[in-house]
This record gives sequence, C-alpha cells and structure tokens, in this order.
Amino acid sequence: MEIVILPAPADVARTAADAIEQQVRSGPSVLGLATGSTPLGTYQELIRRHRNGGLSFAGAEAFLLDEYVGLPSTHPQSYHSVIRDEFTANVDFVPDAVHGLDGMAEDLEAEVARYEAAIAAAGGVDIQILGIGTDGHVGFNEPMSSLGSRTRIKTLTRQTREDNARFFGDPSEVPEHVLTQGLGTIREARHLLLLAMGEAKAEAIAAAVEGPVAALCPASALQLHPHVSVLVDEAAASRLAHREYYQDTFGRKPAWQGL
Ligand code: GLP
Repeated sequence: MEIVILPAPADVARTAADAIEQQVRSGPSVLGLATGSTPLGTYQELIRRHRNGGLSFAGAEAFLLDEYVGLPSTHPQSYHSVIRDEFTANVDFVPDAVHGLDGMAEDLEAEVARYEAAIAAAGGVDIQILGIGTDGHVGFNEPMSSLGSRTRIKTLTRQTREDNARFFGDPSEVPEHVLTQGLGTIREARHLLLLAMGEAKAEAIAAAVEGPVAALCPASALQLHPHVSVLVDEAAASRLAHREYYQDTFGRKPAWQGL
C-alpha cells in the first residue's frame, strides 16, 4: 500500500484525477466508479480536464461499485443517477459504456451474476476509485463482509443508513438493502485508489491501513492487493501512527514512478 498524505481535499482530487487521466490516455480503459461525496472533487476535475484539456472518455467503459435495492434508476439518489449527473453525462462516454447494477431486478441473484460476467467480459477494471465509510466499508461491504466476497445483496448497518440519510428527504427513505461488488471482486481491479478526506474518516483510515486484515474493517482487505494508492488529506491522516514515514518515503519517490 502506498499512503499519500496531501494538504487538502483539492490535492486529493487532483492526484486521483492525474492517475485516472494517465490510465485513460494510455488506451481503452475500464474505470471503476464510486459514489458518495468523496470522489466528487475528482469527477469535477476530470470534467474540467475534458472541457479544457481535451481529455476524452470515448474509449473508456465504466462499472459502478454498488446500487440501492428498490430505487429505480430514475430516482435522483440511485447510484445510476448520481454517477450520470455528477460525472459521466458531463464527459463523452459512449452511450451504454457506463454499467451499473439494477436494484429493481426481479431476480437479484441473476442480476449480480450478470454483473460479475459483464466486468469479466470487459477485461476487468483497470483503475478503481473507492471511498470509505465511517465503519470501514468499501462499496457497500459492511463490517464482517467476507474478504473473498463477490457481487451480492447486503443489508446496510444503522450507521451507514444514518451517514447516507443526508442525501434523502427523510432518513426512513434510505433503503435497507443494496447490491455491491464484493471485496474479492474489487480486489481484482488492477489499481485501487482509496480516497478519504476529513476528520470523520480518520479512524476508519487508520484501521484500514494500520490495523490487522479483518472482516470487521472491510477496507483492510485492500492490504492484500498488490497496487493500492491511499490518497488522504491531513485530517483523514490524523490518526495514522506512521504519518512521517509515509510522507518521507513518498517525498523521496522517483517522479517517473507515478502512483
Ligand atoms: C457510501 C458508498 C461508498 C462510499 C461511502 C462513503 O455508502 N456506498 O461507495 O465510499 O459510503 O461515502 P462518502 O464519500 O459520502 O463519505
């Protein structure tokens, strides 16, 4: 794992956008997209580079991490809508290149199997953006998710429903169930970018990065991945015991290595 501590959220967004731009410019690419407020700055930066710098997503495909069960894709808080409004509709993905899970599917078991097959058929994910929940979840893999789990239905914890209530008119509107790529699925992406900003994420980041690999902290499963970049601002890094070591090694890294 490489821990990159950056001064402010805007630096996290720029650094993540640099990695995604490099991937997209290298040839046809498969991007893994996360929702939540964390990646919004990165998406805004990519939109800006598309408009001002000619960065094109026409050769790219994208797969969403997760989706609420029971929200039609037209619902403004469905992850289909959020990703479309916040990112993909503002750049030049070709129609049908952005894939998501159908939380309204009649047969949810068949839907998750279809999704796993679609990711495999696309050749797997080249670069996966991830946020982290305050309880250490990634995607919607809540504590005690199997470290080898595949795309499946999950029940949200009370804490996650409370955290996400701000996006809904009333807390009771937050769905109880979700579909999410599993930790095993996520770990097959070739490069993982875990982003976190703010004091509220500091404890989860410390547990994920410096704690043991344990199902209790699903993000700790990323320690098993060969290429993870953890991009955090000072506040999200504030509970890390080895901050100076991470800053020192990143500061002395040869620039040509990139992330
Ligand atoms: C949500 C999403 C995750 C996201 C996390 C943190 O519930 N399913 O993909 O990373 O929780 O959200 P936020 O970035 O808004 O803090």
